[in-house]
Amino acid sequence: MRIWLDGALRGADSARVSVLDHGLTVGDGVFETLKAVRGRPFALTRHLDRLTRSARGLGLPDPDLDEVRRACAAVLEAEPVEHGRLRLTYTGGVAPLGSDRGDAAPTLIAAVAASPRRPDTTTVVTVPYVRNERSAVAGLKTTSYAENVVALAAAHRAGASEALLANTVGRLCEGTGSNVFVVLGGELHTPPLESGCLAGITRALIVEWTGAKETDLPFEVLEQADEVFVTSSLRDAQAVVRLDGRTLGTGTGPGPVTAEVMRIFEAKAGADLDP
Ligand SMILES: Cc1ncc(COP(=O)(O)O)c(C=O)c1O
Repeated sequence: MRIWLDGALRGADSARVSVLDHGLTVGDGVFETLKAVRGRPFALTRHLDRLTRSARGLGLPDPDLDEVRRACAAVLEAEPVEHGRLRLTYTGGVAPLGSDRGDAAPTLIAAVAASPRRPDTTTVVTVPYVRNERSAVAGLKTTSYAENVVALAAAHRAGASEALLANTVGRLCEGTGSNVFVVLGGELHTPPLESGCLAGITRALIVEWTGAKETDLPFEVLEQADEVFVTSSLRDAQAVVRLDGRTLGTGTGPGPVTAEVMRIFEAKAGADLDP
């Protein structure tokens, strides 16, 4: 694997960051996960915009987007995967041991790894942990993902690929690494950003391309929804066929509304790599 670290392409063994990097010691960093398709990034401009928004939200200097684009191009040229994950990480850099930042320049890392295209359907569970929609970092894609690690591990123990969370006031929010859509009476809904969810790029594209409504919903809506699907850069739209043991639809394939969304997404995303 070849990795871009601080201005140059390196082998995985020689790409090393300091043990004092603030991203490592306190999770003071932001990141992006992009889908790489045939050696090219999908929706790069939107991901770079969000990287800047997340960095500003943490008070980090704006990333040099020309350098980030060079980093993406370099790792993808070194590893032109057919389908994969392009990961950007941008941290506070070397700092004192506590929560205060140092004066060092931020750390920028880009890495790519092949990953198989996800199946069209999946199983999810709900978990009792909540997203804090009033957190200082709500809506930012920070490297402080330990809460998601714990919730995702709980989902895996239950035989599911994703865990869905409410926010602190019991409203539907998102998954550990995905946004969620529900079909109610034939209409498509997804929680609004005020729920505390990440402004997912796949979510935004589906809202734009399908007219899905952004609706504040109780967490219990998951018990009644006719169809549910989750979205992320690597899942695109993925139908949920089992949710906490409840079978949705036939339990074997996407419901009709989800299938149409998947069709639209594939067509539009296939026609424009940077929508
Ligand atoms: C918490 C969270 N919500 C939602 C998403 C989906 O966002 P996107 O569609 O931009 O990948 C992610 C992405 O990994 C995420 O980490």
